[in-house]
Amino acid sequence: MKVHRWLLLTSLAASLLPALAIPSFRTKAKRNSSPFVQSDGTSFIVNGSKFRYVGTNAYWLPVLNTDEDIWNTLGNISAIGAKVIRTWAFNDVNAIPENGTWFQLVQNGTVSINEGPNGLQRLDTVIQMAQQRGLYVILSLTNNWFPQASTSGTGTSLRTRNGSPSVTLPRNYLSNDYGSDQFQYLRCSLIVVTGGMDMYVRQFGQNYHDQFYTDQNILNAFKNFTTQVVSRYVNNPAVFSWEIANDARCASTLPASSSCTTETVTQWHATIAEHILSIDPNHLVSSGTQGFMCTDCPKLYPLTPPPAPQPSPAPGTKKRSAPVTSRQILRKRSESRRLSREAALRRGTLPQNGVRVRGRWASTATRRQQSQGVGSSYDGSYGVDSQDIMNIPGIGFGTFQVFPDQDTYVPYDPNLSQYDNLVNQGVDWITSQAQSASAVGKPLIMTSFGLVTQANSADFVPFNMSTAIDPYGATNQQQIDAYSTWLNTSVSSNVAGMIQYQWGQMNLTAETGTTISPGLTGISPSPGTTGTTPSSTTTNTTQSSDTTGFSPNDGYSSNSNANGVQQVMSSTAQNIASD
Ligand SMILES: *[C@@H]1O[C@H](CO)[C@@H](O)[C@H](O)[C@H]1NC(C)=O
Ligand SMILES: *[C@@H]1O[C@H](CO)[C@@H](O)[C@H](O)[C@H]1NC(C)=O
Ligand SMILES: *[C@@H]1O[C@H](CO)[C@@H](O)[C@H](O)[C@H]1NC(C)=O
Ligand SMILES: *[C@@H]1O[C@H](CO)[C@@H](O)[C@H](O)[C@H]1NC(C)=O
Ligand SMILES: *[C@@H]1O[C@H](CO)[C@@H](O)[C@H](O)[C@H]1NC(C)=O
Ligand SMILES: *[C@@H]1O[C@H](CO)[C@@H](O)[C@H](O)[C@H]1NC(C)=O
Ligand SMILES: *[C@@H]1O[C@H](CO)[C@@H](O)[C@H](O)[C@H]1NC(C)=O
Ligand SMILES: *[C@@H]1O[C@H](CO)[C@@H](O)[C@H](O)[C@H]1NC(C)=O
Ligand SMILES: *[C@@H]1O[C@H](CO)[C@@H](O)[C@H](O)[C@H]1NC(C)=O
Ligand SMILES: *[C@@H]1O[C@H](CO)[C@@H](O)[C@H](O)[C@H]1NC(C)=O
Repeated sequence: MKVHRWLLLTSLAASLLPALAIPSFRTKAKRNSSPFVQSDGTSFIVNGSKFRYVGTNAYWLPVLNTDEDIWNTLGNISAIGAKVIRTWAFNDVNAIPENGTWFQLVQNGTVSINEGPNGLQRLDTVIQMAQQRGLYVILSLTNNWFPQASTSGTGTSLRTRNGSPSVTLPRNYLSNDYGSDQFQYLRCSLIVVTGGMDMYVRQFGQNYHDQFYTDQNILNAFKNFTTQVVSRYVNNPAVFSWEIANDARCASTLPASSSCTTETVTQWHATIAEHILSIDPNHLVSSGTQGFMCTDCPKLYPLTPPPAPQPSPAPGTKKRSAPVTSRQILRKRSESRRLSREAALRRGTLPQNGVRVRGRWASTATRRQQSQGVGSSYDGSYGVDSQDIMNIPGIGFGTFQVFPDQDTYVPYDPNLSQYDNLVNQGVDWITSQAQSASAVGKPLIMTSFGLVTQANSADFVPFNMSTAIDPYGATNQQQIDAYSTWLNTSVSSNVAGMIQYQWGQMNLTAETGTTISPGLTGISPSPGTTGTTPSSTTTNTTQSSDTTGFSPNDGYSSNSNANGVQQVMSSTAQNIASD
């Protein structure tokens, strides 16, 4: 019964299938010589060849103050062998800022787009220069997040681990205000804040985060923005793909309504994917979720049963995996605990210490206890069923993110060290995602992965985590080893793109009232591979006499020096290039 559950769901949900007229060649492209990124069902194809890559996030590229800064940053990124950058194609404000970049004014139920030199022309520059540097760009169209107290009193006011409220960071820091609609007074000047889903919800007079997905006026406004940005780059092969949203979920700073389910979020992705493809037939579209699954939720896009086993599959056909199921997850966990216990016993290193206090997002939907069932990453707690979303016809490939400092993918094994648990979290999540993508039959990208180091921990905005754990974070060498392990796991699991979170750049041009402001530090200058600087000695995020600018750091930036992280990325890029 359980084993064949998906067969039943196929017939149950068949009537729910929206009539999407996406031709199948979009996801099963023939190997032609198109310069646009295409998919053959497991890999990306560019210019007729397989395209597998290492890349980096730099969401702040369009808000840098000079073209030279963009050019240098892209040059530094390209120099390590990265081929793809992931950045924000949105920058919403609720009032026009005095200085700095903004793309869209979302105000009192109306929207208008800034096509001027401090508007979408900045994004034009990023894309043009990326192309000149040989880089492809993944463009994300909105953001789930703004982890700051809402005006209605729900939500949480967040702090970096050194104690400063995240709102003292300039506009366009991810952990500050890529997603709010409040005015904040900072150093006696009125600053305008930037938006994501919650800004639309508030400015359109609504109350729940998920009204972003369902309110018709908001949908129209977001489609309008999407139309204008997407049309701008329809014919540009430097755009790798359109990402519908960073990390869409039922809840954010604004809470979820009681009616939000995984189907709400899946349906919205289907609607927006169809909208994008109606404007732009050239580029692939992806979701941008963190990859949370719901093994036992009803599906809007059920998987068709795999073909009956054949004695010898036709040459060139790849075998599809079975979808991830609850039973399989639980069986795998108990087996891996048994193996690790045996290994620890052999080594004589069965640790006695307890389970680490986990970081939590401020306003996620109710979560079940980790000890029962498959846990929040697989039970639909976040309102996301990445497998159902990946199987939407208009979605070209799967995405997931690896952040074991913020999420728990498998229960902690008390018989392993904290660090080994963190590494295993990532390995388990990557292999699970790879299985899900293989079951669906689409390529897969790890759109972000990161581990907070001690040197970076002062800048980490942990959303909702006890700050009592000190020193917090991995050593630099542990971070490098974890990244190497996750990259190797991704390579052997056929993950088609591996994108680090995130690039850090120093020596940028600082200007008052912009993201890159004078007097801010943002990257712990720890290029070595052995640093174990405790967080208490790192720089104060809001205080520095330095006049050069730093790219935003929310705890994951690695700076532009040739440090160990970049060496690991670079050598992985070389390995997959010579596949
Ligand atoms: C594809 O071809 C175009 C045009 O020659 C080139 O600019 C681009 O770098 C190529 N992409 C890859 C991944 O080889
Ligand atoms: C890297 O950035 C620096 C500025 O910080 C610049 O001087 C240098 O030319 C860049 N390197 C490359 C390869 O573009
Ligand atoms: C917002 O829009 C409504 C309806 O269009 C209008 O009545 C109201 O005056 C506007 N409020 C502000 C603050 O502009
Ligand atoms: C769509 O965007 C344009 C340009 O910014 C704006 O003039 C128009 O009012 C928008 N339409 C809707 C329905 O929001
Ligand atoms: C940890 O190891 C001990 C001793 O072998 C065992 O009794 C216990 O069940 C293990 N705990 C887990 C969670 O595997
Ligand atoms: C943090 O999470 C805990 C447990 O979920 C909750 O009890 C607490 O209220 C949260 N703290 C804040 C400041 O939101
Ligand atoms: C990852 O693979 C590379 C290349 O095979 C290897 O040199 C490296 O040691 C591996 N990393 C880890 C952590 O095992
Ligand atoms: C870049 O910034 C770092 C940190 O502020 C500084 O030590 C270094 O001298 C700067 N390099 C250049 C070329 O300005
Ligand atoms: C905007 O820039 C000018 C010139 O640098 C500066 O004097 C002003 O304070 C800035 N405005 C804000 C709000 O920071
Ligand atoms: C960080 O800088 C701010 C602003 O200068 C200051 O008020 C605060 O006390 C500093 N915090 C620490 C931990 O040094």
